Amino acid sequence: MKGIILAGGTGSRLYPLTRVTNKHLLPVYDKPMIYYPLQILVDAGIRDILIVCGGNSAGEFLRLLRNGVDFGLQQLNFAYQEGEGGIADALRLAEYFSGGEKICVVLGDNLIERDIRQAREKFERQDRGAMVLLKEVPDPQRFGVPVFEGERILRIEEKPQSPQSPYAVIGIYFYDGTVFNRIRTLQPSARAEYEITDVNNSYLRDGLLSHSLLDGWWTDAGTLESLWRASGMVREKVRAAQGRGAESKVRGAGATRP
Ligand code: G1P
Repeated sequence: MKGIILAGGTGSRLYPLTRVTNKHLLPVYDKPMIYYPLQILVDAGIRDILIVCGGNSAGEFLRLLRNGVDFGLQQLNFAYQEGEGGIADALRLAEYFSGGEKICVVLGDNLIERDIRQAREKFERQDRGAMVLLKEVPDPQRFGVPVFEGERILRIEEKPQSPQSPYAVIGIYFYDGTVFNRIRTLQPSARAEYEITDVNNSYLRDGLLSHSLLDGWWTDAGTLESLWRASGMVREKVRAAQGRGAESKVRGAGATRP
């Protein structure tokens, strides 16, 4: 499976923070935002990765990440999105790279607490189609929201005023090779973008969309509030891990004491 990170767009919801730099280069606690989606893919065992960047400071991605050395990678691939055509438009640029294989797409401003290893394995076992990940959130109206009939998703609504469920479709998607033909059939939405939700609804119409619930916390970092919250969540996670490290060192030292 190949991995694709979508890191284009103007980041206008974060102005003036993003007036001269790219949203995905902004700090989230102790690292630039783009580090987190990259780590999600690497932790899932995906090493063949394309980053689609765009907007301001696109060249800085290469300077920051080089060949992915901080992630134990030997090579990273880059593409450049012209304009702001939306998430599905950025994904178009991954067609050549993906070569018909299954792909895992991560939005560059999405962060998770744990990993998506199990989801990846589940999708490997799925013959064809797509899989989305869901998380219960207090503010579903900010996201793609599934409408359920029993266990089954009927459709996904993008930023609905009255959400029909408390779930967000998070920005980690699994697709088969038909995704690019599906994107070609899309029309721009009211906000003049090619929506990833329309891609997912295309799979739904064909009965080819499965879903899983994500374990652990999830957040985007694309607004001032969520960026601020994301830094706090990462800080907690880092400090908890440091605490556990210090504790096991003490226990380790205790064990070697005569
Ligand atoms: C995008 C998608 C939305 C999804 C969200 C996850 O929203 O359009 O369906 O729930 O990412 O982060 P946007 O970043 O455009 O607000």
